[in-house]
Amino acid sequence: MIYFDNGATTLKKPSSVYKKIMYVMKKAGGNPGRGGHLMADKASDEIFKTRVAVSEFFGIPNPQCVCFTNNATTALNYAIKGCLNEGDHVIISHYEHNSVYRPVHKLSSKGISYTVAESVDVEALDSLIRENTKMIIVNHVSNVCGNTADIKKIGAFAKEKGIIFMVDASQSAGHIRIDVTDYNIDILATAGHKSLFGMQGSGILYIKEGIELDTTIEGGTGSMSLYRLQPDIMPDRFEAGTPSTPAIASLGAGIEFINSVGIENISNHIANMNEFLVNGLELIDGIVVYGDKTSSVKSGVTGFNIEGADSEIVASLLNEEYKIMVRGGLHCSCLAHEAMQTTETGCVRVSLSWFNTLKECEKFLDTVDRIRLRVV
Ligand SMILES: Cc1ncc(COP(=O)(O)O)c(C=O)c1O
Repeated sequence: MIYFDNGATTLKKPSSVYKKIMYVMKKAGGNPGRGGHLMADKASDEIFKTRVAVSEFFGIPNPQCVCFTNNATTALNYAIKGCLNEGDHVIISHYEHNSVYRPVHKLSSKGISYTVAESVDVEALDSLIRENTKMIIVNHVSNVCGNTADIKKIGAFAKEKGIIFMVDASQSAGHIRIDVTDYNIDILATAGHKSLFGMQGSGILYIKEGIELDTTIEGGTGSMSLYRLQPDIMPDRFEAGTPSTPAIASLGAGIEFINSVGIENISNHIANMNEFLVNGLELIDGIVVYGDKTSSVKSGVTGFNIEGADSEIVASLLNEEYKIMVRGGLHCSCLAHEAMQTTETGCVRVSLSWFNTLKECEKFLDTVDRIRLRVV
């Protein structure tokens, strides 16, 4: 089996991640922050350690600014809905996932306007800024074609303009280095279950100190229980309800693994495989590779089509006959498909992980060539 659908979720996790999940389930399975007994304390301890690991990993000065969510979608919704008010304007990129686009679009019926930037060059962004622009949201790596934004440059620009800068790092966190302080990122949202190797049910929302967000969900936090309003203290403010301690702790183990391998080594491995794949695909007759190659080629995500063939049929042939798992069709990003002009066809997406190999990429290219001869 070859698993090339890591952009959806990584299938293979480091063995330490599986071990950590079992440890937490069996030996630290109390409700964190609720009760002062041993099991609750052990669960709290796992979460605290992960908070520190996440903050060190992303250059976050204060671990209390790291909130855990169930996935990236929840983190993005908290930030978008908590930040924007009637009369505000937000700029989003043309490669946003629907977990950004849909909440932003929904808010447009409540007096919040948005502009979709066709390019995330700072000159292009500059021309879109209005007096009431409060936020710029950028998808670091497109989940459809791998286009990669220069978030360091955009962060410096947003800072200069006094606009809140939010990055969706769901397709980059764990294999491309991100430092929120260095890059002037005010809000970072990401999934924990992709390249960070946590289990499903893990997500991260970082909110810089001083950025005021309203809450979308209120409830028990284990703190200030007599207080009628949602506490202001972080991270409690955005962590109402029982968290998934196994998922959070698994994310901590995932980050520990990445640190032990070295994120530069992971980046290089994925970049080499990705470049090999893209170059190989381009040598096959009748293949269209999408995206801006100068930015996407090392991202770990490649979108392509065999001209004249249905992308879902190609993906299902790869799965059923060759046990190669990729995703075909449409990929939860109406904007990206519009930009790529693939709303009718969708595309085949290959998304890589540290655990993939060049040999798998070779086999993949050979198989795509064979399938092409069958389907066109
Ligand atoms: C760029 C991007 N943002 C957000 C998400 C949503 O992630 P989740 O499924 O963890 O909510 C995804 C998922 O594929 C994604 O690729």
